[in-house]
Amino acid sequence: MITYNEQIRTFKLDTPRTSYVMGIRDGGFLLNLYYGRRLPDDDLWALSNRLPSASFSPSDPDYTDFSTDVAPMEYPTNGRGDFRVSALSVRGADGSSVTDLRYVSHRMFRGKPDLPGLPHLYADDDSECETLEVTMRDPLTGVEAVLVYTAFEDCDVIAKHVRLTNRGGRTVKLERALSSCVDLPSMDFDLITLWGRHAKERQFERRPIARGLQGIRSKRGSSSHNHNPFAALAQTGATETTGEVYGFNLVYSGNFTLTAEVDHNASTRIVMGIDPSDFGWLLAPGETFVTPEAVHVFSADGLGGMSRVFHRCYGEHLIRGRWKTEKRPLLINSWEAAYFDFDTDKLISFAERARELGIEMLVMDDGWFGKRDNDRSSLGDWFVNEKKLDLSRLIDYVHSMGLKFGIWYEPEMISPDSDLYRAHPDWCVHVAGRTPSIARHQYVLDVSRPDVRENVYGQMREVLCRYPIDYVKWDFNRNLSEAGSALLPAERSGEFFHRFVLGTYELQDRLIRDFPALLLENCSGGGGRFDPGMLYYSPQIWASDNTDPIERLNIQFGTSLCYPASSMGAHVSPCRRTGYRTKGDVALWGTFGYELDPNDLSEEEREIIKEQVAEYHGYYELIRRGDLYRLICPWDNDFVSAWSFVSEDKREALVTLVRMRRQEETLLHLKLQGLDPDAFYTVEGTGERYSGALLMYAGVEMTGAAWDDGDSCKLHLIAE
Ligand code: GLA
Repeated sequence: MITYNEQIRTFKLDTPRTSYVMGIRDGGFLLNLYYGRRLPDDDLWALSNRLPSASFSPSDPDYTDFSTDVAPMEYPTNGRGDFRVSALSVRGADGSSVTDLRYVSHRMFRGKPDLPGLPHLYADDDSECETLEVTMRDPLTGVEAVLVYTAFEDCDVIAKHVRLTNRGGRTVKLERALSSCVDLPSMDFDLITLWGRHAKERQFERRPIARGLQGIRSKRGSSSHNHNPFAALAQTGATETTGEVYGFNLVYSGNFTLTAEVDHNASTRIVMGIDPSDFGWLLAPGETFVTPEAVHVFSADGLGGMSRVFHRCYGEHLIRGRWKTEKRPLLINSWEAAYFDFDTDKLISFAERARELGIEMLVMDDGWFGKRDNDRSSLGDWFVNEKKLDLSRLIDYVHSMGLKFGIWYEPEMISPDSDLYRAHPDWCVHVAGRTPSIARHQYVLDVSRPDVRENVYGQMREVLCRYPIDYVKWDFNRNLSEAGSALLPAERSGEFFHRFVLGTYELQDRLIRDFPALLLENCSGGGGRFDPGMLYYSPQIWASDNTDPIERLNIQFGTSLCYPASSMGAHVSPCRRTGYRTKGDVALWGTFGYELDPNDLSEEEREIIKEQVAEYHGYYELIRRGDLYRLICPWDNDFVSAWSFVSEDKREALVTLVRMRRQEETLLHLKLQGLDPDAFYTVEGTGERYSGALLMYAGVEMTGAAWDDGDSCKLHLIAE
């Protein structure tokens, strides 16, 4: 619900358990007065009474009791006396980047507007949310900023983006156009972020914030393995279950910044949006630029509470299409089984063995197109390598067995050794006169260009129309460098990175519109583009090329800070550590599937896999729709990790525990969470009966504690 109190000129955005309050101050300054637990409406006036001014801090001559330098600014601008990190900086035709925004008007309406060309949260029905648009204007340049906020009724989420329109008479340049800013009157926070690299994505990092700047960004052209566009500010001492936590996530797959700045008053500002360092956008009179959307979550129930809000929100308001609700097929992927070394018969043998195990889809990974037998050629030549493959025979056979069939693409890439590159050398991302750098023997295809998009999409469309393909894995295997496009004029070179991302979004949008039954899975050298932008197009994303179940724990726990289980690509592979049971127990957390040669399995392994397949079906709804509780996190404990899924009605729970390393103590008390304390639960298999209260407050003793490294166990609880 959103209200405006005319008397004190204050907006209040309420979600079920949170409030976000803004006030218009004399002079038209828009202030960020409060964000946190839900407040009553009656005494909001007290919030705006606290505004300080400070010596040395400049003020508007008409309002000298107030300085932007020390005020909580809702959308801070550059050069008007607020010396902290700003959200907007516009270089005017006069060469100055001083930017000033003052309130003009506002409107409120039910529902949520689309962001053209950009991924965003949505509501199926206008009753699910309400939107506030506050229009601000810079009197000198005429730049108008419409700050767009949506408060959801069914989850504690506020989404925000900004529409910038040049209402002046001269072209200006946006040098910084961020999506959101939140000013909090405290520095008692830890900053939590997810860092990583290839095969080690989304590792949890927590550090106390300090005065000055701190934060993360990507300049790699994609959201990256290295930093996820997510950050949390957790009250000092907040845990999984207690304390106040703010979570921020940018719905964007390109260069981003998430920066926190603590000032001399111990106030914390956090801003997020497109990273400004390689950004500049010309805005001619009448033109509009829309920022990506930022998602804000507040939870008073610790990190676990924050995560569950993100999960519900993304499950309901971000993931779309048929596969939002339809059961996804359990797949086997050819990559780790065969790499580039396959032909029709080998894949048919995979499908035959897989079917015996109960697997539902065969995915043919990299190596089916052009003349690709290794990673040195053919990206861009998206036609079937008929010397290697009879695709019609393969798909017909796979379908005749009742399996679905999937295929791999890397549409935004081009190999120097490809027909496409030989025909169009200027179609790769490059800067004239500079040698483009190479990574994995490939260049990046310039999908900021409409003609390039037309070509690559046309090639994909031809294959997807000719063959009945059920699934596409969309990969992206390098970072961008020498970032430029042959079509962009010099003064627009700063637009390249964002135009590239918009190009990717357009391609994925076309694909899922033209082929609505297709299941799309994004991937980027594992989980290098695991972000909410991608989730808008593909309901699942391959989380990491690292399928070692012990190392996967850190990756999956980290990913779960804001991404739901239904989105997390997780497969069982023949990697070196642990037996197949643990591999399966860890992969069950995600979308679940296999990445191995099913001809190479022992009889015992085949039996285990058949049991896992049955478990996958049995727990599907619980894991996809249930609430996740991280019970023992790998970043808190070197020996054991544990997590559970609890159904929404609290009648069913699945608890999984993995011993990462053997420890001295043999007993382990595990306190469960999220159960109904008054209900009695029966443990499947043993028939033991415990109250929810005992399981949560006293804990359950994990008696099989003499396990070796890498062992796991599950408890399935059903309430009577
Ligand atoms: C990336 C993906 C892998 C596989 C290979 C194919 O590394 O993460 O799963 O698809 O590319 O080249």
